[in-house]
Amino acid sequence: MSTTNKRPDEILLQVQDVHVAYGKAEVVHGASIDVRKGEFVVLLGRNGAGKSTLLHAISGLIPKKSGQVLFDGNDVTHSSPRDIVQHGVIQVLEGHRVFHSLSVEDNLLIGTYANSPKGDRSKLERIYDLFPEMAERKQQMASRLSGGQQQILAVAQGVIGEPKLLILDEPSSGLAPMVIDRILDVATQLCSKGLAILLVEQLVDKALRHAHYGYLMQTGRIVASAFSEELREGDLLHRVYLGGDNREHA
Ligand SMILES: Nc1ncnc2c1ncn2[C@@H]1O[C@H](COP(=O)(O)OP(=O)(O)OP(=O)(O)O)[C@@H](O)[C@H]1O
Ligand SMILES: [Mg+2]
Repeated sequence: MSTTNKRPDEILLQVQDVHVAYGKAEVVHGASIDVRKGEFVVLLGRNGAGKSTLLHAISGLIPKKSGQVLFDGNDVTHSSPRDIVQHGVIQVLEGHRVFHSLSVEDNLLIGTYANSPKGDRSKLERIYDLFPEMAERKQQMASRLSGGQQQILAVAQGVIGEPKLLILDEPSSGLAPMVIDRILDVATQLCSKGLAILLVEQLVDKALRHAHYGYLMQTGRIVASAFSEELREGDLLHRVYLGGDNREHA
């Protein structure tokens, strides 16, 4: 929740005029956003606006046609996904992707590979403190978790890699509202300890209640950016989503 109307000075992620295309079809037309140290930023927009595409371009999963991405003082525009992870950017992909045939604990250990090639058990304790629901199920096969628990595991798998920036793409997708509350609460808690968060979420009001700052994307362009309160209070969001699929009516 934002209580300040000043963004932190120190920029962690800087995305400058990034264009992304699939073949000849450009879907992101010069997006510029930034995330400051310890800040919780939400990227909003209707289905198909280009949000996931922009996140994938930041993480190096798809190439940029032009533009620049700087992270923590490094130019990572053309870095590999692995190098970008090593700089401290971890993305939890849309649709909770965990290894079904492995236990919860083994899934978490895989998350530590981001910065220690043999897996690092010493990181588990902190994660079990943050996610007690995972501690209770550590020996259980991931396939036996509910959809919501799998999503929490996917987030925990990202957090255990100790990123500086955690990117979450629609963690609520298809899940109960309680799960997204849980994930947003953990994200807020992590943020208060200095982690930066970049969230894409269709549950707009919930997302804005947790985030400090928001960007609004429309057909591949960033059309507005403001503090969360301003976005909640203004009518721009309603105009962008009008007749669209803002699934949150509460
Ligand atoms: N692999 C792909 N190949 C070609 N076009 C794609 C591909 N992935 C996405 N697109 C197109 O790019 C545009 C942006 O899609 P993207 O998935 O980035 O949107 P989004 O804002 O994340 O939407 P959603 O809210 O539905 O997740 C859409 O028109 C989509 O059809
Ligand atoms: Mg998407």
